[in-house]
Amino acid sequence: MTDPRTPASTPATPDADWWRDAVVYQVYPRSFADSDADGLGDVAGITSRVPYLAGLGVDAIWLSPFFPSPLADGGYDVADYRDVDPRLGTLDDFDALVRAAHAHDIRVIVDVVPNHTSSGHAWFEAALAAAPGSPERARYVFRDGTGDAGELPPSDWVSNFGGSAWTRVPDGQWYLHLFAPEQPDLDWSNPAVRADFEDTLRFWSDRGVDGFRVDVAHGLAKDLSTPYRPSNEHDLPLDGSDPLYDRDEVHEIFAAWRHVLDEYDPPRAAVAEAWAPAPRRVLYARPTELGQAFNFDLLESPFDASAFRQVIERNLAMSEQSGASSTWVLSNHDVVRHATRYALPAGTDTDAWLMTDGVSPTPDRDRGLRRARAASLLQFALPGSSYVYQGEELGLHEAAGIPRDLLQDPKWVRSGHTVKGRDGCRVPIPWTESGPSFGFGDVAPFLPQPADFGACSVSAEDGDPTSTLSLYRAALAARRRLQSGESLTWLEAPAGVVAFARHDGWHSVTNFGTDPVPLPAGHVEVASGPLSDGVLPGETTVWLS
Ligand code: BGC
Repeated sequence: MTDPRTPASTPATPDADWWRDAVVYQVYPRSFADSDADGLGDVAGITSRVPYLAGLGVDAIWLSPFFPSPLADGGYDVADYRDVDPRLGTLDDFDALVRAAHAHDIRVIVDVVPNHTSSGHAWFEAALAAAPGSPERARYVFRDGTGDAGELPPSDWVSNFGGSAWTRVPDGQWYLHLFAPEQPDLDWSNPAVRADFEDTLRFWSDRGVDGFRVDVAHGLAKDLSTPYRPSNEHDLPLDGSDPLYDRDEVHEIFAAWRHVLDEYDPPRAAVAEAWAPAPRRVLYARPTELGQAFNFDLLESPFDASAFRQVIERNLAMSEQSGASSTWVLSNHDVVRHATRYALPAGTDTDAWLMTDGVSPTPDRDRGLRRARAASLLQFALPGSSYVYQGEELGLHEAAGIPRDLLQDPKWVRSGHTVKGRDGCRVPIPWTESGPSFGFGDVAPFLPQPADFGACSVSAEDGDPTSTLSLYRAALAARRRLQSGESLTWLEAPAGVVAFARHDGWHSVTNFGTDPVPLPAGHVEVASGPLSDGVLPGETTVWLS
């Protein structure tokens, strides 16, 4: 047994199981805080806001990619896995952020993107310069085309962002990219790729990083044997037989990663972003692999009592199977914010709605926020870890009216301008009621903010006991105080109401309907909206003890 590696910085209180019930705040670095007046958020900006995050009561921050990147996909196109994008700062700035977070007992999770590099990565540049069949090309998936002169792609696989998943290079070969052409897929059957990535995990762990979010974890292993078989990423089979996603071989890769993560004391945590069918997500979450896997089921549910209850039951059962705790998410950088989703009629196609610049159907914003607050409070009562996406604690709505010429998401171009994409949830967040970017920085931000953002800023909400910020602070403080154990007991409740007890001293009751229901007895710890005498109004959650 070798001694554990010693990282540069450690959290104030050591605890190997911190991730099991952590509240994890997702920072999208370019949109969080701009410290150097270039319109782009940066690492020093995040450090300056660590006291805010500590006051909010989060246990960890997850940093979406901040690595050098040509930004073809908001940083999920990484040109160097072991550095900071010069526009966002330096490695010294990163170390300062980790130290500041740790001093407040906040863990740091870094996003790793192993399925693909940027086309600006030195490996891909070397692959393009090298000949077909070379070791440089063997780190990626280069193949000859079909058709008389190889002018057609090797298979009919499509990219997640639209169009073919293959792009041709000048010498006639094609390379695979499950996302944008600027994101060439790595070949994970190549031992050189595996070894290099394991060193990347060590690089950040040595700097004191406490965990990793693993991007597109279900995509790394591919069946590239010919004839190529069709893939259907929207309806993946339960037996791992799709050629591109959720294949059994992917688990060997993560078992090897677990050995690396366990070189540290405490072992580094990891959470898989694996859009695999629910029963197969437990495989990624096994303690011998990443240890946790995202459960996006609440995020995909309508605001409905039976839908929420089913999702909770299913995921708690899966946690028992894997030994991991669950991960609850309502919003992230890839989806329309939940305050806005809940403001739209059930079943609204949000892509189509965004194409109307958010005007048809008209969102009922007050209702959306009321429901979002109720759903978030319910989420924080659940056993397991809970994710908060920057700005949801302010009750932000989607910025649906970004002018088309300013859109940055590769989906916009790749879809032939039929899908606007994800920029509306990535608009820089407001810190103050006025100013050129509502306190995000000193100049206009890289994506325009809606005029009404100031009213949802930190300074506008701070001190207002009815604000969403005050609700989140109160909820996270109460969660810390009340949390114990990892189970819940369902309580009897009228139709349209979800009620459960975490233990004798903590009950959560959500009225998903619009009519008030009787308020159960108990001391009110936190409520997502005003309570009137003896009743729990519609679309409201209350915690009782
Ligand atoms: C990330 C996306 C990104 C994609 C490709 C994801 O699932 O969350 O933002 O576009 O991976 O890296």
